[in-house]
Amino acid sequence: MTATTSTIDDVRAAVAAARAAGKRVALVPTMGALHAGHLALVERARELADLVVVSVFVNPMQFGPKEDFARYPRDLAADTALLDAAGADVLFAPDAGELLPEGRTQVRVAAGPAGDVLEGRIRPGHFDGVLTIVLKLLHVVGPDVVVFGQKDAQQVFLVQRMVRDLDVPVAVDVVETVREDDGLALSSRNRYLQGGERRLARAVPAALDAAESFADRDVDAMVAAAQGALAGEDGADLEYLAVVDPASFRPVDDGYRGRALVLVAARVGGTRLIDNRFVHLG
Ligand code: PAJ
Repeated sequence: MTATTSTIDDVRAAVAAARAAGKRVALVPTMGALHAGHLALVERARELADLVVVSVFVNPMQFGPKEDFARYPRDLAADTALLDAAGADVLFAPDAGELLPEGRTQVRVAAGPAGDVLEGRIRPGHFDGVLTIVLKLLHVVGPDVVVFGQKDAQQVFLVQRMVRDLDVPVAVDVVETVREDDGLALSSRNRYLQGGERRLARAVPAALDAAESFADRDVDAMVAAAQGALAGEDGADLEYLAVVDPASFRPVDDGYRGRALVLVAARVGGTRLIDNRFVHLG
């Protein structure tokens, strides 16, 4: 049975008891509306630790004023049943007032330059909000290892950067993206897709396929191919397509050779979808 906790004191007590018994602790931070992608993180956490804590908290600090905070899907009963079946030990589901008594913190983590590009350019302040809540969760739970999904590649990069820059005593583990049969990355926001939008959403992984097929040419050819894959679909609008050096998150130069990360964001109907893929250039 997954034990549900909603206060900082209770989750700390559960972790302290496990530590006293010599157990290793893993944390999987989520915003709920759980799907098989989240559950792959839980499964990985179970391999890495003896006590698996999953947090469910829709963090207001990472949503812009015009974003979907109010309508973000919330279903704690369904989440609890899924976590139970997945073998999570502790669910930490605090009220907003427990974790953010003033609504937001005054002191914040600044994500730095890599937080201002791609997702951060379209969603200003998003990564400051993500890193601030992740750091708080790490302080509250104090895990040995924290598990994230590659689906949110820029988030992974910035969490790793924060852990390194601020000497946070935790290991960061990354799980590869879990997809539907047709290639669409699982996302809590996929449930916003209505009618024909679900079929259109397939254009997002298709753009990555197209980009990858030109990886032996050059970056411009990759971008053009990806744009072409989306241009054919009425109602799927490309927001960005970028090829970055995974070590810096900076766009690669023309002559770049080696492992690169292709990132795509598109709007399908009213829904923003993001995805990414590692490719080998040259
Ligand atoms: P959320 O979108 O709920 O995602 C929680 C974790 O699940 C993230 O690490 C995300 O990358 C991972 N995830 C989502 N879809 C996935 C998929 N298809 N395959 C593999 N992993 C997937 O990311 C957040 O919440 C928040 O920003 C959070 C880190 C909890 C801070 O508020």
